[in-house]
Amino acid sequence: AAKSDDVLRSPVLCVLGHVDTGKTKMLDTIRRTNVQLGEAGGITQQLGATRVPAEAIIQRCGRVKGFTPEKVKIPGFLIIDTPGHESFANLRSRGSSLCDFAILVVDIMHGIEPQTLESIKLLIKRKTPFVVALNKVDRLYGYESNPQKDIYQHLKSQNMNTQLEFKERYEKIVVEFAEQGINVILAPDNKDVNEYISMVPTSAQLGDGVGNIMAYIVEHSQKYLSDRLGYIEDVDCTVMEVRSLPGLGTTIDVILVNGTLKTSDIIVLTGTDGPIVTQIRDILMPAPLREIRVKADYEHYKEIKGSQSVKILAKNLDKCVAGLPLFVCNRTDELEILKKDAHDQ
Ligand code: GTP
Ligand code: MG
Ligand code: NA
Repeated sequence: AAKSDDVLRSPVLCVLGHVDTGKTKMLDTIRRTNVQLGEAGGITQQLGATRVPAEAIIQRCGRVKGFTPEKVKIPGFLIIDTPGHESFANLRSRGSSLCDFAILVVDIMHGIEPQTLESIKLLIKRKTPFVVALNKVDRLYGYESNPQKDIYQHLKSQNMNTQLEFKERYEKIVVEFAEQGINVILAPDNKDVNEYISMVPTSAQLGDGVGNIMAYIVEHSQKYLSDRLGYIEDVDCTVMEVRSLPGLGTTIDVILVNGTLKTSDIIVLTGTDGPIVTQIRDILMPAPLREIRVKADYEHYKEIKGSQSVKILAKNLDKCVAGLPLFVCNRTDELEILKKDAHDQ
């Protein structure tokens, strides 16, 4: 496939972690939305997806030490939100299976919890690089928030007891990770990313450290993942959710990692009763910094390039199975092969 090294796609990021550690809240802070408040019981029950354009990253990273806007070469992030509740292991697996990089959110007050462990196993199994968000630092006793500051400098300006509590909780979590065979260290002290996983202290609620974690991901992905992030024409697309929406019928939310989708493309999907062959009628995409889960004014597209999260309208989607690839049929003589591929999934 033709590969143009100068065109980078957005890295697909997956947010993983135990229930209520603050995954959705962190996205809300990045988006300036309130999706978490609208969730039933405050529990995420579906996969979400949001594109965060480079400009939004640059805005958020303004006060991060050593960060300059010129450093951002990627067009943005595509962030997948996953549920932390134990009953949604299949969604965590699906969400993490196609990501380039993950954010593992750990509640600094709780340390490693059961779904933290489950998430670590998924990441290790697939060799997915990740960063740990040491979240809810605002709950440290006496913590004074300032989301405008570089978090590492800001932590040093906290009162002594707050700094001590941070150190104690931090060290405890280092030990918990070590018990899983993983070396973790604060990001600025990480001199060897092959040996150590970086941790970034954050308050998803108040915004402290959120710029630092975004800057870290920009830098890390451009430095270590640039080969993977070169845009290629081969379609790499996965069905994330099959959703029935009033007025739209059954639609599929897909993550297009690479390649191009166009209206009128013939696509082949896996269905419960065998392969589905259908034609794309419309491609819908939420505005930047909007969540695909939230019913909103989607914008219509004739053509879309990866990485992007879009909703596809087409006939016969009722029996489509989520978590599996979408194939595009470019030539009629490919159709039978693709149907067999869809059948074998
Ligand atoms: P699931 O998706 O259900 O697994 O949860 P989640 O990880 O998305 O956590 P969510 O964003 O729903 O946050 C859970 C609760 O923790 C909410 O009440 C948030 O307001 C709160 N919370 C999240 N982040 C922070 C934080 O940094 N500080 C404090 N104090 N509370 C937070
Ligand atoms: Mg959530
Ligand atoms: Na929650």
